[in-house]
Amino acid sequence: MPIPVILDCDPGHDDAFNILLAAAHPAVRLLGITTVAGNQTVEKTTLNARRVCTVAGVEGVPIAAGMARPLYGDGIVARNIHGESGLDGAVFGEPTVPVDGRDAVTFLRDTLRDHPAPVTLVPTGPLTNIATFLRAHPELGGRIERIVLMGGSTGRGNRTPAAEFNMAADPEAADIVLRSGLPVTMIGLNVSHKAPATPDVVARLDALGTPLGRMCTDLLSYVGATYREVFGFPAPPLHDALTVAHLIDPDLITLVRAHVAVELTGAHTRGATVVDLDGVTGAPPNAYVGVDVNVPAFWDLVVDAVRTLSSPAPS
Ligand code: BDR
Ligand code: CA
Repeated sequence: MPIPVILDCDPGHDDAFNILLAAAHPAVRLLGITTVAGNQTVEKTTLNARRVCTVAGVEGVPIAAGMARPLYGDGIVARNIHGESGLDGAVFGEPTVPVDGRDAVTFLRDTLRDHPAPVTLVPTGPLTNIATFLRAHPELGGRIERIVLMGGSTGRGNRTPAAEFNMAADPEAADIVLRSGLPVTMIGLNVSHKAPATPDVVARLDALGTPLGRMCTDLLSYVGATYREVFGFPAPPLHDALTVAHLIDPDLITLVRAHVAVELTGAHTRGATVVDLDGVTGAPPNAYVGVDVNVPAFWDLVVDAVRTLSSPAPS
């Protein structure tokens, strides 16, 4: 049985690839996409989700816009990585895929309430929508199979030396999710940085020779340049795509049980995920935490997804 999934995202180059993986693979049943402010404003991330679905021919998957700012304070964006549009580098026409009339929290409520089986939530942006939903509808917590999120790190951050972007963008929301008691899997920078989109990966996507393959290589070219400039990386990571890849192939990412706390008050460390890998705090584990990834298998999944969506079966 395919895993029923809702993606909660802020596309974003790597979010875009995660949408492709979820839409393409038969192990996943994509029930909907909710968007949130993060890499860019929620207006832009929603437009980008529609753009990606349009180019990939992903129709009939509702896209619902979510929260425009974090639970507290002002939002941040990642213009330095994802550009002014949030998805710079590719050229998009007017999207034909519509936006759902419901806001993200209402869409989550309706879908979790009505779907016959518990649903897996896959957040790959700031956790504002998910935390707001959990606060508004605690009675539906049991309808969540698990939460598989991209965010945090067992080590250093990227938004600050201590904090990863999604956590830094809304630390209070992340704290709510990690203290929710729900089954949480956290895939962070410590794993995603192990799987850069090297030139051979780009060449495989280019060789598909399709408009979608071209969109992918254009996106990788842009984010490759920003990662080189900002972080000095020779090739860019595609953080978010590891979440759905993990759902498709549970052996792909090595997980350990650990307690994860989100730093809310540190002068220099707000948004940091403090991962107790050695159990020194005695705090009971509240998450499965990614620590390693099978890199070739991951890229095979990504390339296969783009190939699948590039040549839809004739109707
Ligand atoms: C995360 O931050 C965003 O810029 C990416 O889309 C990813 O979700 C990586 O830190
Ligand atoms: Ca993201």
